[in-house]
Amino acid sequence: MTRRAAVIGHPVAHSRSPLIHGYWLKSHGIDGSYGLLDVAPGDIDRFLGDFAASGLVGANVTVPHKEAAFRAARELDPVAVALGAVNTLWLEDGRLCGANTDVHGFLANLDAAQPDWTRALGEAVVLGAGGAARGIIHGLLSRGLDRVVVANRTFARAEAMGAHFGPRVLPVEWRDMPARLAGCRLLVNTTSLGMKGQPPLDIDLSPLSPAALVTDIVYVPLVTPLLATARAQGLATVDGLGMLLHQAVPGFERWFGVRPQVTSELRELVLADL
Ligand code: ATR
Repeated sequence: MTRRAAVIGHPVAHSRSPLIHGYWLKSHGIDGSYGLLDVAPGDIDRFLGDFAASGLVGANVTVPHKEAAFRAARELDPVAVALGAVNTLWLEDGRLCGANTDVHGFLANLDAAQPDWTRALGEAVVLGAGGAARGIIHGLLSRGLDRVVVANRTFARAEAMGAHFGPRVLPVEWRDMPARLAGCRLLVNTTSLGMKGQPPLDIDLSPLSPAALVTDIVYVPLVTPLLATARAQGLATVDGLGMLLHQAVPGFERWFGVRPQVTSELRELVLADL
């Protein structure tokens, strides 16, 4: 019987997940499908509460339903518990299970692009203090970084991040961030600055050490103004597209029984669709 999965969101038409999973289904010759499911906020709790009747073997969950999926799942992986958000669902003996694979996506993207990125463990600077930043900080701490500095336009949100994670996370005012760059080994942008249609993230990167790595979770455009500035300065950079591709891997494996590869062919396919 054809195994069916989907991405659930609202709106959801822009999602690239069908392209990614469709590529893997085809390349592995699997009898499966992956579709788009737009579920309105007023209907999501009922839909997830009766997930077993949906005919799906599992799903990805995107904005704004990640917290609803967290509430609905009866079993959760530790990352989902830590973040209070689920982006991957599957059924086990009729029970709805949930995981958060965004952190895996972020870390696996760095691992693939710069296998030795954790070699010089030290200080990371994370720009932004929203849901994406929370996952990334969790991931960085799990890899043993000594300290994560969080700078955010709204300082109270950076402070909340520090209160949540404890002393290894240091909130700083946005205007004080440039002073932290000298000791920074990894700079991560999690804000929407630099995204197509948004103002650029305009910061002076000259205090960064030549050994620093700069990464952005924005992937439209692929080379954001931040990454372009870093490259012009001779710094190593990792774009955000790989995070999107890698976060999809664990779900596909759960639903279809094959661990798929993030190939350059897949990357080109998704790039052509951006
Ligand atoms: P997500 O869950 O994707 O992280 P979010 O919670 O809306 O989304 O967070 C977006 C991040 O981008 C926040 O850190 C936000 O800063 P504020 O907390 O001050 O809103 C940041 N951001 C968005 N637009 C920005 C701008 N024009 N200048 C600086 N930071 C901005």
